[in-house]
Amino acid sequence: MTSPALILFSSFLCHVAIAGRTCPKPEILPFATVVPLKTFYDPGEQIVYSCQPGYVSQGGMRRFTCPLTGMWPVNTLKCTPRVCPFAGILEHGAVRYTTFEYPNTISFACNTGFYLNGTNSVKCTEEGKWSQELPVCAPVTCPPPPVPKFATLSVYNPSAGNNSVYQDTAVFECLPQHAMFGNNTIACTAHGNWTKLPECREVKCPFPSRPDNGFVNYPAKQALHYKDKATYGCHDAHVLDGPEEVECTELGNWSATPSCKASCKLSVKKATVLYQGERVQLQEKFKNGMLHGDKVSFFCKNKEKKCSYTEEAQCIDGTIEIPKCFKEHSSFAFWKTDASDVKPC
Ligand SMILES: *[C@@H]1O[C@H](CO)[C@@H](O)[C@H](O)[C@H]1NC(C)=O
Ligand SMILES: *[C@@H]1O[C@H](CO)[C@@H](O)[C@H](O)[C@H]1NC(C)=O
Ligand SMILES: *[C@@H]1O[C@H](CO)[C@@H](O)[C@H](O)[C@H]1NC(C)=O
Ligand SMILES: *[C@@H]1O[C@H](CO)[C@@H](O)[C@H](O)[C@H]1NC(C)=O
Ligand SMILES: *[C@@H]1O[C@H](CO)[C@@H](O)[C@H](O)[C@H]1NC(C)=O
Repeated sequence: MTSPALILFSSFLCHVAIAGRTCPKPEILPFATVVPLKTFYDPGEQIVYSCQPGYVSQGGMRRFTCPLTGMWPVNTLKCTPRVCPFAGILEHGAVRYTTFEYPNTISFACNTGFYLNGTNSVKCTEEGKWSQELPVCAPVTCPPPPVPKFATLSVYNPSAGNNSVYQDTAVFECLPQHAMFGNNTIACTAHGNWTKLPECREVKCPFPSRPDNGFVNYPAKQALHYKDKATYGCHDAHVLDGPEEVECTELGNWSATPSCKASCKLSVKKATVLYQGERVQLQEKFKNGMLHGDKVSFFCKNKEKKCSYTEEAQCIDGTIEIPKCFKEHSSFAFWKTDASDVKPC
């Protein structure tokens, strides 16, 4: 049985519905929800706007009732994203971000020589908090370096307690009689290991042999090793071709093999020549002969053009070839001009 009061009430509502217009589907505001959401509402029906999770409004919830005009009132609700705490600075690294708002993710990277202790990205959650603890950039460290066989550490300054940090270096030295192969300096890399270690190997050189017309001195030892030295000298009228001192190299041979070269006796009695750019009297300058390697220029005549030119001659191990064009000036032929006094061509 239906009560008369209810019938009366229902007919009243019916009357209002007929008298008023229905409201349309309400405007969808960004990041907001409407409850209940329908395609039309009868006058008197209520809707509630609220911001979606992760968004907040300044004025809180907004309730509206569908008016008899069938037009929803203007809604000023604004939902804005929650903002997570500032996280734009990472010491010894960089943060990639657009904003710190929900629902963005920001990411982290460390400079070379540092590693990320923690996560490489965090998300700003609905609650306006970072999803995980923010990371830090910690320095990469290298443990104390291993020391190669037959080597010693000559320079080593661990700068992080007992460890080294990126770009720290250590320097090795080989024991005496040993030569180093590779770089004597190693560096702590960004991977936390050291660059390639050098090697130290024992190196022996053969005893040097005595040069003809000379001598060689070296330490009186069982064997000659890397960095040992030998000195050479020559007997009278001979000069050393090569350095006076040689050294046993890392390749197990001597840095040079000097020899003794003979001086040159001069077959020319008298001549003006060029020696190191200066005019000298051959017989005076080289009274005791020319040394191996010495060079002089002789003057020659060009008969057709009546001028002079020079040709070079060098003393090589006791022999000097006098240029064919050179004519020794005879002191009897006093009326002739010496080639060195004729104008140059
Ligand atoms: C890495 O982070 C954890 C937690 O924050 C901390 O306990 C630890 O000491 C850090 N390690 C380094 C090497 O910084
Ligand atoms: C360095 O190493 C020594 C010996 O292993 C140790 O006693 C010392 O505590 C270490 N120092 C640091 C800072 O780690
Ligand atoms: C040896 O290594 C150091 C440090 O890694 C580097 O600076 C240097 O250039 C290297 N020297 C040679 C000869 O390779
Ligand atoms: C150091 O570590 C890196 C990465 O693990 C590796 O590629 C490299 O070969 C290592 N270097 C040396 C000298 O061991
Ligand atoms: C030493 O020996 C190496 C290889 O056997 C050779 O290439 C080099 O020229 C030699 N050095 C000298 C000064 O003879």
